[in-house]
Amino acid sequence: MTLRCDFILRDATIFDGTGAARRRGDVAVRGDRIEGVGELAGWTADREIDAAGKAVAPGFIDAHTHDDRAVLCGASCMLCKMSQGVTTVVVGNCGISLSPTRMTARPIPPLDLLGDAEWWRFGSFAEYADELARHPAPVNTVALIGHMSLRVGAMNGDTQRAATAAEAARMQTRLAESLAEGASGFSTGLYYPPNLLAPTDEVIAVAAALRDAGGLYVTHMRNEAEDVLVSIEETLQIGRAAGVPVVISHHKCASPENFGRSLQTLPALEAGAARQAVAYDVYPYAAGSTVLIPERVRPDIPARITWSNPHPEMQGRMLSDIAAEWGCDLREAAERLLPAGGIFFQMDEADVRRILAHPLSMIGSDGLPHDAFPHPRLWGTFPRVLGHYARDLGLFSLEQAVHKMTGRTAGVFGLRDRGVIRAGAWADLVLFDPATVRDAADYDAPTRLAEGILATWVNGRPAYVAGEGAAAEASGRLLTRDRP
Ligand code: ZN
Ligand code: CU
Repeated sequence: MTLRCDFILRDATIFDGTGAARRRGDVAVRGDRIEGVGELAGWTADREIDAAGKAVAPGFIDAHTHDDRAVLCGASCMLCKMSQGVTTVVVGNCGISLSPTRMTARPIPPLDLLGDAEWWRFGSFAEYADELARHPAPVNTVALIGHMSLRVGAMNGDTQRAATAAEAARMQTRLAESLAEGASGFSTGLYYPPNLLAPTDEVIAVAAALRDAGGLYVTHMRNEAEDVLVSIEETLQIGRAAGVPVVISHHKCASPENFGRSLQTLPALEAGAARQAVAYDVYPYAAGSTVLIPERVRPDIPARITWSNPHPEMQGRMLSDIAAEWGCDLREAAERLLPAGGIFFQMDEADVRRILAHPLSMIGSDGLPHDAFPHPRLWGTFPRVLGHYARDLGLFSLEQAVHKMTGRTAGVFGLRDRGVIRAGAWADLVLFDPATVRDAADYDAPTRLAEGILATWVNGRPAYVAGEGAAAEASGRLLTRDRP
């Protein structure tokens, strides 16, 4: 058979996203789909790309992002992702989504990590989806609806308490509408005040909307430290009550006294997975990052400031140094920096590796795109898993690494014909050099471009080329979970 295509990647090492062994072959793209894979000697194309010695994989799916606003502000905002080979992002995590609640003032933390009131202009998910349709993002977007955003809308801003039954019912209705308009699931951030005042029953009441729509329940759990096992149980309970799959966000065992406890959490998750659908995302670093909460700072968890509204000059500096300079304790220094964010060195490397390597994991960056001095996960997550953890440390094969960023993730989020290289699948692709791929961003230089990612295509169109940067044209789409 001879066919004419738009472009053919020739003689590539193909990682198909399923975890199957790499093989050599050609990948042909026509329009927005992969047309052929394998020995395509008789095929011709407008553009032939010599990929000998290079790897081609499905474009990476960032399972955990806070890119709700970044996907609306053009290629420069998303360069951090395309330059890692990411072609799809899941937005709306940790209870924080830019819709369906309009805000007239800067929202309270952690909602404010998406920005000031000017960005909170979407009174429904349909309005957000419409904006994405009119001004396409450079990558595909999968959207979750955040509990905290729903609470602000349903509780008239009075969120420092549990919702009443009527308010929970209102949230459930708003969630159901959003799912009907193309959102894929519901996220909570029960760790954060004031959401921690929401009892399990409130979450179950809202999550009930997921059942008919076949949506996902995704959670930044109430506790990732001493009560991490209790929180896993709560998450599984909510999933069973709603009758839907659960995704645990950025799984970790936080704080020094909990180091090593992935030896307990992973078996607990396996036991859960024997009864119900369970997955989790994880980023490849032993430090987390979020808003600064003065009551939670500790001397044994070093913190580095990522942004501070009153003290932008302190961005990038250690909280302990700032406190010493100001002659006060850590908590007071944190209070004076507010509103602010930080990087918290609160995990054990052995736990990080165990959690990364486990078959239930997917890779999600949890990058914070609007931080002035961000955690390096924003620019480095995917190349770090491929280079540092798979190739250099041999924690798992490159096939497994790719699977955790593509096929596995597409399966969990129900993204049909994505996350896989085969004829007929969408042409979301990344070309990289397996010998040189590495993250270059670190805690001192957090926005350095990754190395070894050569090109990224989204829906068959170029999105990024090494040395040239992001493409001017944006061809991302809103993706909606396949309803089982
Ligand atoms: Zn989170
Ligand atoms: Cu998050």
